[in-house]
Amino acid sequence: MAKAMPLRRLTEPALLLLNIRQLLTLSSTVQGPRRGRDLSQLGLIESGAVLCVGGGIASVGKTKDALRDSWIRKNRRRIREIDCAGKVVLPGFVDSHTHPAFTAPRLIDFEQRVAGATYEQIAEAGGGIRSSSEGVRKATRTALAEHVLGGFNAMLAQGTTTVEAKSGYGLSLDAELKSLEAIRDAARQWPGTVVPTLLGAHVVPREYRGREGKYVRIVCHEMVPRAAEGKLARFVDVFCDRGAFSSESTEHIFFAAREHGLGVRAHVCQLSHCEIAPLLKYDPASLDHLDHVSDEDIAALAAQSTISPAYQTVATLVPGANHFLGLGRFPDARRLIDSGVPVALATDYNPGTSPTASMPFVLSLACTQMKMTPAEAIAAATINGAHALRLAERKGSIEPGKDADLAVFDVADYREIPYWIAGNCCAAVIVAGAQT
Ligand code: NIG
Ligand code: FE
Repeated sequence: MAKAMPLRRLTEPALLLLNIRQLLTLSSTVQGPRRGRDLSQLGLIESGAVLCVGGGIASVGKTKDALRDSWIRKNRRRIREIDCAGKVVLPGFVDSHTHPAFTAPRLIDFEQRVAGATYEQIAEAGGGIRSSSEGVRKATRTALAEHVLGGFNAMLAQGTTTVEAKSGYGLSLDAELKSLEAIRDAARQWPGTVVPTLLGAHVVPREYRGREGKYVRIVCHEMVPRAAEGKLARFVDVFCDRGAFSSESTEHIFFAAREHGLGVRAHVCQLSHCEIAPLLKYDPASLDHLDHVSDEDIAALAAQSTISPAYQTVATLVPGANHFLGLGRFPDARRLIDSGVPVALATDYNPGTSPTASMPFVLSLACTQMKMTPAEAIAAATINGAHALRLAERKGSIEPGKDADLAVFDVADYREIPYWIAGNCCAAVIVAGAQT
């Protein structure tokens, strides 16, 4: 059991997971996000063990080696142990695209869609994202934080330990800042890691209808600077699509984000084709949805492998949205993966298109609807999710030195995680080396 650091004295609580039937370490010698064939490398250890010390992973290996290890033998009585016999352990999921700052489900939209209306028709008629902004604008920050925390806890229960959380239903300076503050408040009460994102440019709010430029100036000159000054966001996102924001507006917002030291990401090609190659010069951590991506843009994304591995754009697919909208078609994950684009999976948890907090359900959709293998889906939901948040130095794999964020699944084989649909086989979650 190779140690990453000398552990002479046990000063902090230590946790040892033993007899793990399948330990998916996701460790690899590959730099940067996984692409092509490397996406299926799970770094599987049978009868594995993980030692967590001081919130981090101290060592990883076989149970028999852990039990022989002199440091573990010496300290065994003071180490907490979890017997994972018959179970699978993997890195906690990294859900790299969620919208938890809302107050109510959109049930009218839901019924209208069941009756045949499309997402865009409903938005045009007064439903959609704009209708969620009424509740958020009225809500107190405390009430909003409670909703956000409810979402985070639902995610944790299904094995998610790191989550990206967007604002985007406030659509005014005050309500967007309130949303980011609510995300921060909820994050303080949640054991996992939260990466906040300003999505002021989700749609043009009613009061600015027909005046996209004016609203974009508010995003660039008021929201972005205030979010950056208050350290309320790490990324800025834009919904770049038909009925939302143009590519030019997206570039303006990306420019402002960069000026203020924030990273960028965007929703692209969900409803219609938009050119994404011009956005790549802003080094987006992730471009998400990609239902209508062109061959040229796939080639441009794949070509980014020549850039430094630390700065590559991940394509984040969110099949929960296609499923819930009843579209009957899904992003072409196979074409992206086989072209060499690094792909991540996320829930897109939100009240309009994807009301699910379950990464295992998203993995199921990835396998059944997008023909990703179970191994690819797991890597896309862990290590590539971490890359999509530029957090792969700390998250997404079980390797010495990384944060000890683990999910224990009560299944004998990792392929059962996407197999058992709409259930929850997550038996335990460890965050920073402590069971939640
Ligand atoms: O990712 N497309 C933009 N944003 C969300 C939908 C938000 C909503 O409808 O409330 C998405 O699908
Ligand atoms: Fe989204």
